[in-house]
Amino acid sequence: MNGTDVAPRHIFATGENSLRDEPDALVQPRRRMDLHRSPYSYSSIKIGLWPRCRELYELVRVSLRPQNRGAADTVLAVRKAEELVLERTGLRVENLKVLEIGPGQQLRHLRCFALKNDVVGIDTDAIPQKFALAELLRTVRQNPWMRTAKTLGRIVLGRDARFRAALARELGVTGFKPLPVLQMDATRMDFRDSTFGFVFSCSVFEHIDEPGSAIAEVARVLRPGGVACISLHLYTSHSGQHDPSIFAADRPRPPLWPHLRPAFAHTVRPSAHLNRLRLEQWKELFTTAMPGVHFAYGRDSEDLSPALKELRAGGELAEYADEELLTVNLVAVWKKPEGVRAVA
Ligand SMILES: C[S@@+](CC[C@H](N)C(=O)[O-])C[C@H]1O[C@@H](n2cnc3c(N)ncnc32)[C@H](O)[C@@H]1O
Repeated sequence: MNGTDVAPRHIFATGENSLRDEPDALVQPRRRMDLHRSPYSYSSIKIGLWPRCRELYELVRVSLRPQNRGAADTVLAVRKAEELVLERTGLRVENLKVLEIGPGQQLRHLRCFALKNDVVGIDTDAIPQKFALAELLRTVRQNPWMRTAKTLGRIVLGRDARFRAALARELGVTGFKPLPVLQMDATRMDFRDSTFGFVFSCSVFEHIDEPGSAIAEVARVLRPGGVACISLHLYTSHSGQHDPSIFAADRPRPPLWPHLRPAFAHTVRPSAHLNRLRLEQWKELFTTAMPGVHFAYGRDSEDLSPALKELRAGGELAEYADEELLTVNLVAVWKKPEGVRAVA
């Protein structure tokens, strides 16, 4: 963070997603991802024309806003994750080989981690990093049309550029170079065992159909003594159904938990594929592959307990525990024991 252009020390020699330059030492011979084999892109489920229009409207509205708050929130989220990891495991996220799973179109956390670490991201979607014809064609060819439309919309509206500029200001750097991001599925990674010192993911695992396989893969690719920090958005939280109109609201608004209440469930329009796992199922999956894993529970800034109490008094949401309704982000932090090459 020295005010100069950021030149991350890449694990992979290229930021172009080219597979030619990957050193053999880090990846197994790659299965090139069969992009049409995947049943979905997390953002391309069928939701109907009207909800899709509403989603695009929200996208445009959010895109036209200044991106300063999003950038500040990103830097804060990374700092909090680093502090949590240090507190629970003693590991400082510096000078490590870092993998981010599902960095998304803005690479927002990956850009932060790249300042002090060797980073690589993997995502099932193609992530264009420059406004160049070849990059855009690759995105159009490899991503489903909805993903492509959203990406192009954000580029055309200038949202990504404004976000990058705001993030650079927050981090005290003048700009970002392309980062190495590979198209790869978290449930079937091509990395060798014990490759990474830190694996991070935010808001991805709730979209994966076989999250147990992805968790086992994380445990496999971590080196002994390495740490995973996996944050996921819990389905049973108020906003867990990923309805863009609920996401776009500045604060939780009634009806709360509409997707879990029969009277409101039909009004909900999720914009992403979700596995709908509940808190106890997540805890069991993590504990199985990562014995001794720590959990942290992130809540909405507004306390929803009084509203929940009222709903319970009316006989609603009886089958859900308070903790799973009030937890928005479940964060699993695990240090792979020294001397263990692969768990699970
Ligand atoms: C909601 S976005 C989160 C993006 C980013 N982590 C953030 O917080 O801004 C979810 C991302 O996970 C990716 N993803 C979904 N399933 C995946 C999988 N099985 N393997 C790798 N990436 C996946 C999606 O393509 C998408 O980019």
